[in-house]
Amino acid sequence: MGAKERINELIELLNYHSYRYYVLDDPQISDAEYDKLFNELIELEKTYPEFLQGHSPTKKVGHKVLTDFRKVKHQSPMLSLSNIFNKEELIAFDERIKKLISVNSIEYVCEPKLDGLAVSIHYKNGIFDSAATRGDGKIGEDITENVRTIRNVPLKMFGNNHPEHFEIRGEIVIPNREFEKLNDIKLKNNEKTFANPRNAAAGSVRQLDSKITAQRPLYFYAHSFTNEHLFKTHTEALDTVKKWGFNTAKNILVSSSTNEIERYFNELIGKREKLDVNIDGVVIKVNDTKLQTSLGNIARSPRWAVAWKPPAYTATTLVKNISVQVGRTGVLTPVAELKPVELGGVEIKRATLHNASELERKDVRVGDTVVIERAGDVIPAIIRVLIEKRPPNTKTFKFTEKCPDCDHKTQRDGVNFVCDNKSCNSRIKEALKHFVSRDAMNIDGMGEKLIEQLVDKGLVKKFSDIYVLDPDELSMLDRMGKKSSHNIIEAINMSKKVSFDKFIYALGIDLVGSENAKELAKRFNSIDEIKDNKLKSNKLNGSSFVITGSFDEMSRDEISSLIEENSGKVSSSVSKKTNYLLAGKDAGSKLDKAKELGIKIIDLKDLFKLIGN
Ligand code: IVH
Repeated sequence: MGAKERINELIELLNYHSYRYYVLDDPQISDAEYDKLFNELIELEKTYPEFLQGHSPTKKVGHKVLTDFRKVKHQSPMLSLSNIFNKEELIAFDERIKKLISVNSIEYVCEPKLDGLAVSIHYKNGIFDSAATRGDGKIGEDITENVRTIRNVPLKMFGNNHPEHFEIRGEIVIPNREFEKLNDIKLKNNEKTFANPRNAAAGSVRQLDSKITAQRPLYFYAHSFTNEHLFKTHTEALDTVKKWGFNTAKNILVSSSTNEIERYFNELIGKREKLDVNIDGVVIKVNDTKLQTSLGNIARSPRWAVAWKPPAYTATTLVKNISVQVGRTGVLTPVAELKPVELGGVEIKRATLHNASELERKDVRVGDTVVIERAGDVIPAIIRVLIEKRPPNTKTFKFTEKCPDCDHKTQRDGVNFVCDNKSCNSRIKEALKHFVSRDAMNIDGMGEKLIEQLVDKGLVKKFSDIYVLDPDELSMLDRMGKKSSHNIIEAINMSKKVSFDKFIYALGIDLVGSENAKELAKRFNSIDEIKDNKLKSNKLNGSSFVITGSFDEMSRDEISSLIEENSGKVSSSVSKKTNYLLAGKDAGSKLDKAKELGIKIIDLKDLFKLIGN
């Protein structure tokens, strides 16, 4: 097969596999296999730039840096939705529509209202063409290069019978889990964190350098179409665009009954904190597209759709005190102690102030009246201070120079103050709470109160002390007895059997969360092996290798890992950029090509020499 055909084949393959992965949620190949094909394509495109294709997945890595976003006029305005807040308003909406078109019943489609950034994307003959933000609804900004990088936006639509020109609209979001990871990285790099996933998505999309956008965990969910008349119903539209390679929101209801819609709303809003993507309500749309057209729009919103919003979980209250909590890594977290207030059915007494920088920025003071909000987080946050209500003589909060627990001198580390005393009781308690938690050693019954007593009484200073606890001593503690002490010892013994990755996670090593722990457990068999792990070298930094043929001593995968562990790069095809061709037995066309390009050809021994082994 010639290079051109292989390039086309790889593009089709990779696009197909990302569709399996993102849209069907049913991958057929592993990430590693995907990466291998992807690397092969990169190399081929580098060698044969004349065969580059606009819809190649390698185009998803970002483009040149812009100085500004060009303004674009929308072909039809991007509307907003009018809001309703309760069942009565829903019934009124339904009655109004039924009256307008003189029918007894109307079929609706209900979808989650995704809390993201609205975007319009254009396709020409099935190929990704351009994208724009909503802007003021009439004029948006050209974010083509940024949207091109979004992993689940197809650069070429699947299937057939696409219209020559297709405009699809939807939301760009960052899922909650990914949002947390993103903020963790920001914290580690001493950068300002994003306040919520929506801001993170908006900030990521509005980057003049699309290479930054490419690295952000953005996803697109389609929810409306300007050529809606192509489809009889909105549900038909959703089904069709799924086949064309787009993601649409999960949890959709089709119903004519306001009772059923109410149940759907309550259920979805009830579990909103558990959803992958933040939602800020439910959108209720007339399903029949002809009826949509005949209902038309009022001012800036369609008459055929409405957004049902949950009550906002915000409240105002008074800051009684600001206390400081010491985390297991020594980070000091300021916490506002509040005059108790009800928020979305829960009594709130405290709100996090996140970190020192955040507190400095908001300048929350004891005595202030503040607006608090409970979003996806379990712990509510202070969103702002009502300065006009600030009493005289309040003072800016100052972190003490000493740890509130152990009196050790604290240090400023980026946005945080930290206590770096490893034997600080607070740190030990928090580390233990993590150690025994469900996703770690899962020691049932060893709750906060017990850990606090064990540490305060000096019975436990380190993890291993848990495993030599004396049942009699345990039964003497507050709120303990023979029975509960026995149960806890049993749970402690059970925990010796947890899987290796949970054990690694339990140790609470910096940067080793549950995902990294799983990776470590895959590669190593014991803690001793991890401890022996030779530090990666930089010996092969900047060198790119291609491996060909077979080797008696090691498998090709082992050789690849060895090269990568020493900071080298392994590609699957030879190009001008290749530094070394590692040739084994029965090397074939790659060897010929390397010779032709004058690339250095080495064997395993040479590789070991390069590494200094
Ligand atoms: S339909 C005519 N469906 O909410 C408007 N919009 O206030 C058609 N949104 O900026 C919009 N999830 O981007 C629709 N499932 C959904 C939605 C949704 C979020 C956004 C939309 C718009 C805003 C409307």
